[in-house]
Amino acid sequence: MPPETKRGAGSLPPGPFALSGADFQAIRALVKQRAGISLGPGKKDLVVSRLSRRLRALDLSSFSQYVALLRSEQGEAELVEMVNQITTNQTDFFREQHHFDFLRDQALPAITEAGPPRTVRAWSAGCSSGQEPYSMALVLAEHLAARPGWQARILATDLHTDRLRRASLGQYQEEEVGRLPRHLLLKHFQRGREQGRTLYQARPGLRAMITFGKLNLMERHYPRPASMDFIFCRNVLIYFEAADKAAIVKRLEACLRPGGWLFLGHSESLLADGERYACVGPTMYRKR
Ligand SMILES: C[S@@+](CC[C@H](N)C(=O)[O-])C[C@H]1O[C@@H](n2cnc3c(N)ncnc32)[C@H](O)[C@@H]1O
Repeated sequence: MPPETKRGAGSLPPGPFALSGADFQAIRALVKQRAGISLGPGKKDLVVSRLSRRLRALDLSSFSQYVALLRSEQGEAELVEMVNQITTNQTDFFREQHHFDFLRDQALPAITEAGPPRTVRAWSAGCSSGQEPYSMALVLAEHLAARPGWQARILATDLHTDRLRRASLGQYQEEEVGRLPRHLLLKHFQRGREQGRTLYQARPGLRAMITFGKLNLMERHYPRPASMDFIFCRNVLIYFEAADKAAIVKRLEACLRPGGWLFLGHSESLLADGERYACVGPTMYRKR
């Protein structure tokens, strides 16, 4: 058999696969249905570049075959994988530093001065690989260390199963911890080496503050009403259409205690929700 007709991942074309308009529409509809994410018409190249590697891994030779697989009874696992590939998971420790400054200087003092010791509850909704909830945990750990009886529990959720696995391991490479203040890195992370690389893993005490879980913000199974002191839902809403975004913001509001805080990403705002939230700073809101 001539080499070019052999099947197998290695024999597939190295370049991107062609994506027809109909297959693009089918993928857009599946992504919207599964994750609520609206892929605009300009995202065709992104879909090709993110999903071509899936076609290669599955030894498929066209997007039409891939769409047929997604629609088939065996397509469930691949739908999860497809959403994993399509979502943008960029994150960092102490991303949008002013949110963490507000938490340390205003929100946490207001919470701990308001009453007797209790458990502070927070949620990182769309936590990606964990840098956001670990940053929240660091601020909480530092603030509560000097306050006997106070504890903190963070719920960290995402749709992306691989990112969640990484997040719960709490292990980061040297270049990923660059934004962490040195004293916090040394105090709360353990330095190790693996395959010649330096790794930092969150210490058990920090990891124990966080519970990781899969939660699709488009679905209705949100945490208990009025249970959260603050919620970070940053750089997630940008993917949704206006109506879905509004519904998510409403469900998030229900999870907040009265007077709780909602932190959004830098390009997300709640201009239309002035009755329910007071703006307390750039992309920071307090439930009325
Ligand atoms: C750009 S990351 C933001 C991570 C972090 N919040 C930050 O600001 O650094 C967006 C995250 O939202 C998650 N996401 C997208 N759609 C989602 C959905 N429907 N439900 C839950 N998470 C979702 C993605 O998997 C991704 O990890």
